[in-house]
Amino acid sequence: MNTDVDNSCGIAVKRNAWSSKKRSREGVRSNFTPAKKRQSALVEKCIANPEHSAVSQIKTEENRVEQCCSDNEDLFDGYDSIIGDSSFLAKLEDVEQKAEQHDVVTTNVCYDSLPSKNAVKQSCEEDLTDSIFTEEFPDTSLRDFPSSQLAFQQDVSNPQRQCSLGMESTSTPDVKHSKLTSVPAETLNAKKPVPKARRSMTDQLKRAMLENAGTSNRISKTALQKEAAMSEEISVAMQTIESVSKEGDLGPFFGLPSKVKDLIMRLKGIQDLYEWQKACLDLDSVKQRTNLIYSLPTSGGKTLVAEILIFKELLCKKKDAMLILPYVALVQEKVRGLASFGIELDFMVEEYAGSKGKFPPVKRRTKNSLYITTLEKGHSLVNSLIETKRLDNIGLVVVDELHMLGDGSRGAILEMTLAKLLYSNKSSQIIGMSATLGNIGDLQRFLRAENYTNDFRPVELKEYVKLRDSIYEVEPKEEECFRFSRLLAFKYSSGMQKMDPDHIIALVTEVIPQQSCLVFCATKKNCENVAGMICKYLHKDFLRHREKEKANLLAELRNGGNGSLCPVLQRTVPFGLAYHHSGLTTDERRLVEEAYSSGVLCLLACTSTLAAGINLPARRVILRSPYVGADFLKRSQYKQMVGRAGRAGIDSVGESILILQDKDKDMVKKLVSAPMEKCYSNLLHDGSKGLLSLILSLIGLNVTRSAEQVVDFMSGTLLSVQETQACPQKSLKELTLESIEILKQKGLIEAALDTPFEASLQVTRLGRATYKGSVDLSYCDVLYKDLSKGLEGLLLNSFLHLVYLVTPYDLVSQCKPDWMIYFTQFAKLSPAEQKMAATIGVPESFVARKAAGQSVRKSVDTLVVNRLYLALVLYFLLRETNLWSVSDRFQLTRGFVQTLLSSASAFCSCVLHFTEELEEFWAYKALLTELTRRLTYCVQAELIPLMEVAGVMELRAKQLYNAGYKTLAHLANADPNVLVKKVENLFKKQANQIVASAKMLLQEKAEALQEEFDDLLMLPVDLPS
Ligand SMILES: Nc1ncnc2c1ncn2[C@@H]1O[C@H](COP(=O)(O)OP(=O)(O)OP(=O)(O)O)[C@@H](O)[C@H]1O
Ligand SMILES: [Mg+2]
Repeated sequence: MNTDVDNSCGIAVKRNAWSSKKRSREGVRSNFTPAKKRQSALVEKCIANPEHSAVSQIKTEENRVEQCCSDNEDLFDGYDSIIGDSSFLAKLEDVEQKAEQHDVVTTNVCYDSLPSKNAVKQSCEEDLTDSIFTEEFPDTSLRDFPSSQLAFQQDVSNPQRQCSLGMESTSTPDVKHSKLTSVPAETLNAKKPVPKARRSMTDQLKRAMLENAGTSNRISKTALQKEAAMSEEISVAMQTIESVSKEGDLGPFFGLPSKVKDLIMRLKGIQDLYEWQKACLDLDSVKQRTNLIYSLPTSGGKTLVAEILIFKELLCKKKDAMLILPYVALVQEKVRGLASFGIELDFMVEEYAGSKGKFPPVKRRTKNSLYITTLEKGHSLVNSLIETKRLDNIGLVVVDELHMLGDGSRGAILEMTLAKLLYSNKSSQIIGMSATLGNIGDLQRFLRAENYTNDFRPVELKEYVKLRDSIYEVEPKEEECFRFSRLLAFKYSSGMQKMDPDHIIALVTEVIPQQSCLVFCATKKNCENVAGMICKYLHKDFLRHREKEKANLLAELRNGGNGSLCPVLQRTVPFGLAYHHSGLTTDERRLVEEAYSSGVLCLLACTSTLAAGINLPARRVILRSPYVGADFLKRSQYKQMVGRAGRAGIDSVGESILILQDKDKDMVKKLVSAPMEKCYSNLLHDGSKGLLSLILSLIGLNVTRSAEQVVDFMSGTLLSVQETQACPQKSLKELTLESIEILKQKGLIEAALDTPFEASLQVTRLGRATYKGSVDLSYCDVLYKDLSKGLEGLLLNSFLHLVYLVTPYDLVSQCKPDWMIYFTQFAKLSPAEQKMAATIGVPESFVARKAAGQSVRKSVDTLVVNRLYLALVLYFLLRETNLWSVSDRFQLTRGFVQTLLSSASAFCSCVLHFTEELEEFWAYKALLTELTRRLTYCVQAELIPLMEVAGVMELRAKQLYNAGYKTLAHLANADPNVLVKKVENLFKKQANQIVASAKMLLQEKAEALQEEFDDLLMLPVDLPS
């Protein structure tokens, strides 16, 4: 096995711990237990511990010495238990001799190094770079401690570090502290074996075995007696540690070590918790681990409470946790933000978004995992854990923006996930966060949760509306709703009045450039127009404000666009303004957001998407009109937008101003005074798609096996809570039974034969593939047909055919072909590609006639024609990896093209899972695995390893690559201070996050290999003897 990853100090230490901590807790006890007790423990272990057998298997290939020294733990136990076995005694003698020699060497090393402090230090440093089998602790018994206790033991053996961790203030009892600190740290360090250069895994195994033998032999009988005497006291201490951790309390900071508090201060800059946060963490429901929904206004600080609870779950309860967030960008941001906590607190942070995430997740034997997921990936994750019977590993599920339950088909997916968790894993805790909702009671009944509500806002919010040239304060309690506040002072020329009849310039120049401002607009085009219009009338002085940084920003934007720069941004950025909507690429969005956060940009003209979840507050928020697109604002949308006003720690107050026209006055009165909106189940949304796919997966996963059980399951859904409002004509039971019939007709489920249960149901092959691939039920038939037809003549000398097969069906309706462009691009295809297009149903003659504006008599399938058009976009994108030129050529916004690309990569991984379930599609597996990778990272190949790091986009990857950081290992070992110097416009916080995320990813990969290695060597428990 390649041990390259061991180069990093931090990582090498962690890996030592992984390889060692896997052993059973039984071993810990036995090492500290008097010989008699140990003997019986070994008998148990020989039968029960497969690793014991695993190592014995390795011994057949190694010499006899290694045979019985396979493991320190085993040899310790075995020393007593094998006493009657003469052959073993002979082996032991052999071991002793070798170990004695080893002892001499070790002793020499020890004593040589003892006198010099420097030498000790050096030895420690070398240890850090040693391979995975090098002992981190001289006393191997410590290996079996859970990581928190292991950390404690590390502290014990290293008092200096103990101070820095603040362990003295944890609730860990002092008793074992005083016992174990009596061993001088230097002696412990000095006993560490001297590390060697990288070795093969077999060499490492051999070496480890030899060392283990040596270690055991060093224990003299007197030492053993002493140890036996000590063991009693130590086991008492161990029990105390265990009982403490069972209660889930490891320290003074809400049951967590002070280190967590320090990290929150260092990494998030938060000194103290808000009162409501403390109160919430002290709730009985939190302590008793019942489900909880807490709701507070925007920017109330909900996230921190959730994170502290997650840390408790991972560190104290030693269970995995799941954090479900609504958008991919939020998942990436959170993975970046929490990676540093993971590194410091020794848990894994795993990203489940887009095409990232493994199903089922990799088993981690030594660490707990925090899965940060989108709604869709969260559902697939829960399904895979149910299927592999590992759902119990999840101790806590946190759902941010719980009101997403009411959000169309995505809401249905969230409801399915939560209903399955409630039904299948009674022991896990569910926590939902939300802004205030009108029917929180419904959600409480669904989740069987308590509710905590508070209307705390860190900064006071003042809401205003502007009508003509007057500003009114919003006072919902007053009859008129609005109270006159002031007249807007401005001097407009007649030209200006014409250009800006709503006085946006007057409103924004009251705050910018010193303070920040967000202008929410109804449409994307309007965002660009507003930003452009304001610049036209801004004073030239604005150009001088942070001039150099703005020039840098423009350079970066141009760089990201491979030399192309959006003309609107080119004009607005020098004034400190930008627009922000889904038409920007992710790179552009990130640059704009970062520049706004740091004050380089002072105003963003944006659509409502900016209001959801992203933490970009402003001194003043202006709502250009009470509309989103053509629809009147909803109360929740209004609240989210105005909630962005007021920057905690910077502003004493935040203001929102809604610009309204006379005609909208009454509607706006209702808007500002209406009760909060309600959140309804979406299982019946869009032809009951949610209900159908829920039933399909329940049967597929064997969660329910009969119609009665499905009906019983449904009684635990939000839909059941809202049955009378949601389906007044029919009962939920009737709807459920009808849905089962529909699934039968569609050939997705069938009556199960050969089962002892009456009326059992099972999924068909197509049904299984459909739920495994999370394929929309309305497309599963057509996908099957397309893939079957594809196999008849799959074009493999180009990506076009494969790309066509994974072009998402649901995006087809969003893009109508421009026939002239279609024709020109079609003409660029090779003859083989054109032939393939004709075979799927798009002959060149058809496209040519359409482009010439001629009528076409021959009927074609528009879904196929339009889908191939999108496939062409993706195909050229894969070939050229230049988003700008391809968007330009197809006259599409670069934001749309990027969405198309990310949807295609996600759908490609769905199709891959779909085909994996159907044997006839075996050939697709290898092809789609590679295609998913290419679609996920549609960049030059050398940037891919860097872009695997959460949140590193193409532009950043290029910068890093050019600065010499070419691999994941480069990034994981980078010094953030150097990174900041080498990469332009990279802030320290971002550099820290990149390095932490890279470290986390590297650890994750290394651990996966380690697990694979362990699994390979594991002796099957059912091996015939
Ligand atoms: N105790 C605290 N002291 C100071 N700042 C805090 C504290 N708690 C949270 N914050 C900061 O407040 C800001 C808003 O917090 P957060 O994103 O958790 O709000 P939220 O309640 O989730 O709002 P939204 O509904 O908009 O998502 C963040 O920048 C966060 O770091
Ligand atoms: Mg939030």
